[in-house]
Amino acid sequence: MPTLIELHNVTKSYHVGDNEQTVLTGIDFKLATGELMAIMGSSGSGKSTLMHILGLLDRPTSGTYLLNDSDVTRLSEDERADLRNRTIGFVFQSFFLLPRLTLLQNVGLPLHYRHCEHEEMEQRALQMLTKVGLAKHAKHKPNQLSGGQQQRAAIARALIGNPLVILADEPTGSLDSHTGQMVMDLFKELNQQEGVTIIIVTHDHDVAAQCQRTVHIQDGRVENTIKS
Ligand SMILES: Nc1ncnc2c1ncn2[C@@H]1O[C@H](COP(=O)(O)OP(=O)(O)OP(=O)(O)O)[C@@H](O)[C@H]1O
Ligand SMILES: [Mg+2]
Repeated sequence: MPTLIELHNVTKSYHVGDNEQTVLTGIDFKLATGELMAIMGSSGSGKSTLMHILGLLDRPTSGTYLLNDSDVTRLSEDERADLRNRTIGFVFQSFFLLPRLTLLQNVGLPLHYRHCEHEEMEQRALQMLTKVGLAKHAKHKPNQLSGGQQQRAAIARALIGNPLVILADEPTGSLDSHTGQMVMDLFKELNQQEGVTIIIVTHDHDVAAQCQRTVHIQDGRVENTIKS
């Protein structure tokens, strides 16, 4: 499979007052299209920071990020936002569904931002909800659903724009182990049956063990890469 993501010596420093803190000291890795990869590392090691860079929400302090062979570190803010909307699907620990919208509306939101026609948006949103097993809850509000169902809806929302990659930051972190496993089963199914490329940040070794590969971050670097 072709390389989708390539990081070369990516660093990230934050300035807080007069202090500069370097969180990522030099990250290198490659990810091929179709991979299901885990990122692990202790709290504060920079996993979310790395996901923000991968997701074009933030830019590295130095280094190169090639996404689909093009250097995205040079893009302007607007170009990055545009590319992000077209290529990245996000899943977060706390779901981030909008409470006043139905599941159908929440899932359709990325297409709304792309100025998609209303009817097509609803049709696609229903397709995605069907894919994650929530079609019959399309008209429900998020608070009428369990945590696991809400996370599956968030995955449907991440999928609707046909992203190149799904970035999931501790997607099972606020779920009990049984519900977390159902979310993992969905990720594995999407990866194996539809070839969706997925990166999952996790503290859970059982979750990482179900991915094809785990990247460990320590002292701001990729410590080692274990292929299973
Ligand atoms: N916007 C920011 N401004 C300043 N410092 C930040 C910012 N974001 C993150 N940091 C710092 O960078 C370090 C890494 O944070 P990050 O959130 O990436 O860690 P993490 O590995 O995701 O941790 P956790 O497992 O707890 O989620 C922390 O020391 C944090 O305080
Ligand atoms: Mg984090």
